[in-house]
Amino acid sequence: MTQLSATAAAMVAPGKGILAADESISTMSARLEAAGVAASEENRRAYRELLVSTPGLAEGISGVILCDETFHQRVSAGAPFPQAMRELGLLPGIKVDTGTAPLRRGSTETVTEGLDGLRARLAHYADAGAAFAKWRAVIRIGPGTPSTAALRANGHALARYARLCQDEGLVPIVEPEVLMTGTHSISRCAWVSSAALLQVVSDLVDLDVDLDGVVLKPNMVVPGIDSGQYADPEQVARETVDVLTATVPAEVAGIAFLSGGQPAAQATANLAAMQELSTPWPLTFSFGRALVDAALAAWAGQPALVAQGQRALAHRVSCNTAALQRRYTPELEREDAA
Ligand code: 13P
Repeated sequence: MTQLSATAAAMVAPGKGILAADESISTMSARLEAAGVAASEENRRAYRELLVSTPGLAEGISGVILCDETFHQRVSAGAPFPQAMRELGLLPGIKVDTGTAPLRRGSTETVTEGLDGLRARLAHYADAGAAFAKWRAVIRIGPGTPSTAALRANGHALARYARLCQDEGLVPIVEPEVLMTGTHSISRCAWVSSAALLQVVSDLVDLDVDLDGVVLKPNMVVPGIDSGQYADPEQVARETVDVLTATVPAEVAGIAFLSGGQPAAQATANLAAMQELSTPWPLTFSFGRALVDAALAAWAGQPALVAQGQRALAHRVSCNTAALQRRYTPELEREDAA
């Protein structure tokens, strides 16, 4: 086993998921303000410290994805975040894309940017203690979209990023996210997710990316948020696993789902239903909002409420680890039951 495949296996170890706390400065600032917290550099730092220092976090979380700002900040005790996280038993991850840009002027489709100078940035992050990286491509379903051009541009960028990560000793999280936004049906989401995954896998293979040193981070297959349709966890699980089984080689180290804006308990119930199906890779979570929204609301920027915020995060982590261990029931959603 290579170092990369060992790290990838540790990221998706049984009973563990990955915490996505890598919102950009502007997204994090907007979320703080929505929670009534001033959007300062110090509040962004304090909030991320609350998350990573949650007691017992490493029992259900293998690693935490940071953005560049947090990666270079320090916890109150003085250590840089990556070092403090290693001491807590958490693998440090770093989001390295620089965001999305329109594919062409006026287009609703985007390509994710950040390849220029990426090798040097990855070498810096690896030196500073990162174990893995993340790059998110965004695929939007709409009338006439996604176009083949959008799928190709994003697949190519993801594969170039993944190849550079492995060259520099980092495990790439490869995230082709098909957005929930829209009126589409679950079968349209399945079709587009398959097309996006086929493109990415083909580009990864073309660039000789070692699949056992890759963690794939896809969306779950769900109906569009404005479709008026509801799919129960068994249907989401079946559709999602069918798409993945048809498109993702068995060598991939593991699959860690994003939550994509689903209500937290729904994302957990869907994840739990997937554990009942047989797959060649471990299936786990790499949620952002579905893990941290309750923690941010409970903390509300008050130093006296840090422990309450941490309890809210620990609760969501324990519900999701219960899902991985096939012992999740909706009853566990009650805070006093988990
Ligand atoms: P959500 O789970 O909130 O979709 O975030 C996961 C993530 O990392 C998006 O890039």
